[in-house]
Amino acid sequence: METPPTQTWSQRFETALHPAIALFNASIGFDIQLIEYDLTGSEAHAKMLVKTGIISPAEGEQIVTGLETIRQEFRAGEFNPGVEAEDVHFAVERRLTELMGDVGKKLHTARSRNDQVGTDLRLYLRAQIEAIQSQLRQYQQTLLGIAEAHVETLIPGYTHLQRAQPLSLAHHLLAYFDMAQRDWERLHDLQKRVNISPLGCGALAGTTFPIDRQYAAELLGFEKVYGNSLDGVSDRDFAIEFACAASLIMVHLSRLSEEMILWASEEFSFVTLNDSCSTGSSIMPQKKNPDVPELVRGKTGRVFGHLQGLLVMMKGLPLAYNKDLQEDKEAIFDTVHTVRGCVEAMTILLAEGVNFQVPRLRQAVNEDYSNATDVADYLATKGVPFREAYNLVGKVVKTSLAAGKLLRELTLEEWQAIHPAFEDDIYGAIAPQQVVSARNSYGGTGFNQVRQAIARAHLALGEG
Ligand code: ARG
Repeated sequence: METPPTQTWSQRFETALHPAIALFNASIGFDIQLIEYDLTGSEAHAKMLVKTGIISPAEGEQIVTGLETIRQEFRAGEFNPGVEAEDVHFAVERRLTELMGDVGKKLHTARSRNDQVGTDLRLYLRAQIEAIQSQLRQYQQTLLGIAEAHVETLIPGYTHLQRAQPLSLAHHLLAYFDMAQRDWERLHDLQKRVNISPLGCGALAGTTFPIDRQYAAELLGFEKVYGNSLDGVSDRDFAIEFACAASLIMVHLSRLSEEMILWASEEFSFVTLNDSCSTGSSIMPQKKNPDVPELVRGKTGRVFGHLQGLLVMMKGLPLAYNKDLQEDKEAIFDTVHTVRGCVEAMTILLAEGVNFQVPRLRQAVNEDYSNATDVADYLATKGVPFREAYNLVGKVVKTSLAAGKLLRELTLEEWQAIHPAFEDDIYGAIAPQQVVSARNSYGGTGFNQVRQAIARAHLALGEG
C-alpha cells in the first residue's frame, strides 16, 4: 500500500513510525480474522448514514458496493494487507478509498475504531458461540449413542480413585452429557450480553451527527444497544464471560480425557484405542499413545490462561478505550480455536477412537469388594441398624481379604457366623448386576433410572 502509515491518523504527525514500533503496534496479523464482520458492520453503518441523511443514497450504495468488492477480494485470497495497514479497520478503509475514491473516506463519519472494533468482536463471538454450541450438540449425541448401547454394561465406580460401587457405563457417560448440557446453556445465556451494539458510541462520548443507533443495531441483528457510550466502547465483560464458559467446557473435556487416558492404560484396560485416533512411539514399538485426550488435557491450561489474561488486562483500565484492549483479540481467537478443536477431537475420539472392553469391565466389577455397601444395606433391610451392619461388613472384608476370598466366595455358614440374618438370597443381592440395578433412586445408576435419564437427554437435544 502506497500511503505512508502516518497519513491515516492526521496531519499532526510529521515523521513515520519507527518500523519496530509499527510492528509492535499493528494488529493486522491477527485481527484480519475479523474482516468479514468488519465489512458487515461497515455496511450497516453506511446504510444508517444514508437513512439519517448524513450521506446520500448514491454514496451509500457506492460504499456498500466497495465493501462487497473487498469481501470478494478477501475470499479470493487477493486482499492481504501488510503491517503498514496497522489494523483490519484501517486496511478496509484504505482499500475502499482506493476503490471508490473520496466517497470511501465518508464511511468513517460518526464512527470511531473504538466502537467499530467492539462491534466486530461481538459479531465474531456471536457466530463462534453458535458454532461451538452446535459442536457441543454433536458431542452430546455421540455420548448419548454410546450410553444407549451400554445401559447394562458395568464399570467400576470410584471415589478417591478407589473402587467404590459399580455403575452402569451409560450412567458414567451421561454425567459428561449433563456437563455438556450446562456448557451449552451457559453459552446460550451469555449470548444476550454478547449481542449488544456499541456502534455509535463513537470514540467514547457519542457523536455530533444525528445517527440512528437502533437502526444499525437491527441491521446487524443485535438485541439492543449500549446505553452508556463509555461503557459501550470499553466493556469486555462479554469476552471474559465467554472465556469463562470456554474454561468450563475445557474442564469437562479434560476430566473425560483424564479418564480415557487411565482407561487406556494396561493397568485399567477398560478401553482400547483405534489406530485412527492414537499414535505410536518413535522408539518403543509396543506403544499406542492416547495423544488426543492428552492434548485436550494439555490445551485446557492455555484456555484458563486466556481467562486470567483478560481479567488482569481489564482490572486497572481507566475509562474508556485504552490500547490494552487490543490484547483481547488473540486471547479470544485462541480460546475459540482451541475449544473448537478440542470438542471436535473428543467427538471423533468417542465416535470412532475408543472401544469399551466389555469382558474386561465385567471381570473388573466381579473381582472387587465394591458390593460391600450392599451387604450392609442387606443387613439393614433385615432390621440390623445400618452403622452396626457397616461395622460388621468391615470385619467381613478384612477377613475375606486375609483369606484371599471375594465376598461372593464366602459360604452360607461363613455368612451366618457373621450374623444370623444372612440367608441364601445374599448371593443374589451382591451380584454386580443386582447391585447396580438396585440403585433405583432418582438420578442413580439403576438401569431404570438410566433409561429415564436417556429419555431426558433426548428431550434436552430437542428430540423428545
Ligand atoms: N486495533 C485496535 C484494537 O484492536 C482497534 C481500535 C484502535 N483504537 C484506537 N483508538 N487506537 O483495539
